[in-house]
Amino acid sequence: MKVLRLWQSRSRTRTCLWDGAIHADKMKALQIIGILVTIMLYVVYRTTVFQHHHAKMEERLHPFDTVEEFHETSINVDFLPRGILHSSSDMELKPLWMTRDAKSKENVQNVQSHQNLLAIPAGIKQMQNVDAIVKKFLSENFTVILFHYDGKVNEWHDLQWSDKAIHVLAYNQTKWWFAKRFLHPDVVHIYDYIFLWDEDLGVESFHPGRYLKIMKSEGLEISQPALDPSLSEVHHKITIRKKNRKVHRRIFDSRGSVKCSDASDGPPCTGWVEGMAPVFSRSAWRCAWHLIQNDLVHGWGLDMKFGYCAQGDRTKKVGVIDSEFIIHQGIQSLGGSHTKKASNSFPSDTIQRRRGAPLNMRSEIRRQSSSELEIFQQRWDQAVREDKQWVYPFQHHTKKRKRQ
Ligand SMILES: *[C@@H]1O[C@H](CO)[C@@H](O)[C@H](O)[C@H]1NC(C)=O
Ligand SMILES: *[C@@H]1O[C@H](CO)[C@@H](O)[C@H](O)[C@H]1NC(C)=O
Repeated sequence: MKVLRLWQSRSRTRTCLWDGAIHADKMKALQIIGILVTIMLYVVYRTTVFQHHHAKMEERLHPFDTVEEFHETSINVDFLPRGILHSSSDMELKPLWMTRDAKSKENVQNVQSHQNLLAIPAGIKQMQNVDAIVKKFLSENFTVILFHYDGKVNEWHDLQWSDKAIHVLAYNQTKWWFAKRFLHPDVVHIYDYIFLWDEDLGVESFHPGRYLKIMKSEGLEISQPALDPSLSEVHHKITIRKKNRKVHRRIFDSRGSVKCSDASDGPPCTGWVEGMAPVFSRSAWRCAWHLIQNDLVHGWGLDMKFGYCAQGDRTKKVGVIDSEFIIHQGIQSLGGSHTKKASNSFPSDTIQRRRGAPLNMRSEIRRQSSSELEIFQQRWDQAVREDKQWVYPFQHHTKKRKRQ
């Protein structure tokens, strides 16, 4: 405005002058306006770029924090220069010092270092089985982390691969308890796939490398190997191996209480795998980790919700791989998630309490697990009710399928 008035007053005093001068004056004023506008636009542009950059940094550093949480952490790291922040980690063992030899090796390994992770509870009673599993995975360059829940760690030292694995010990804790605490997504960020397996799985007909190739080519974000039904304890029909198939994503069943047809869009017919041998992609794990409740250590009901972590349509991105299959031995142990089956097939694993009163540990654990399942379901329902922004993500697919 000032410029404009200046220009007007100036031009008024010069009306007596010839046309050419007036014209030149106008041009000058226009130039000044032009320059000012340019400066203003530049300032707006810089501010926007800065805000965008800042928002991106926040998102990168704290992708899942709520706003309040971020406020807190941002204060914690605010005095550090941005460039020094390392927001992720890994499970790789590092040498305390480098020989020249190791240095050149390290350079090679940096390119083709471990890309996948096997995390598995390990009780001494299952040592032979875990040994067989771990050997298969190590030969495919997996990083291995063992969750020792029975206090026995030294007993594993004689195994030839023992010093390559990471051993974590916590008495009487479950697989989900360990996973929540030691597999934070930022900590396992470098791994493409995470196998969070029980220890009682037979892997004679399973090859981790071939398995992953199928998982990738089929676009699966969450999967499990099929169970050999003749040798396995089977809890859910969807896990049963289909011979001559590479992968299956749904089952069909017109009998029974739950009917599974083409129209089914969720568990138990499609879009889920069981908790005993799940495999997660990096993104799916980031989601699944958040789904695991810190206090509900038995993890019952979790698997039914894994489909929400499939990064899209769960009927497509969750599947059971048939050509690489396992045997589910159904041995009861703390690490496992298959205390699920409330059947008579449980060994009466009765132990003596100090005072002499018998305690059936299995039934206690089962009782606890059921009550946790109830809590988990209530929590989910409440979360859905209270989150006004939340939309059931599979609606679209259901409708489409029904129209077909
Ligand atoms: C595992 O790593 C070794 C050495 O880094 C490499 O020679 C080998 O090809 C890798 N094996 C697989 C299956 O990726
Ligand atoms: C773990 O559980 C077993 C069996 O229930 C029990 O004997 C043992 O004392 C527990 N250990 C710890 C450290 O709580």
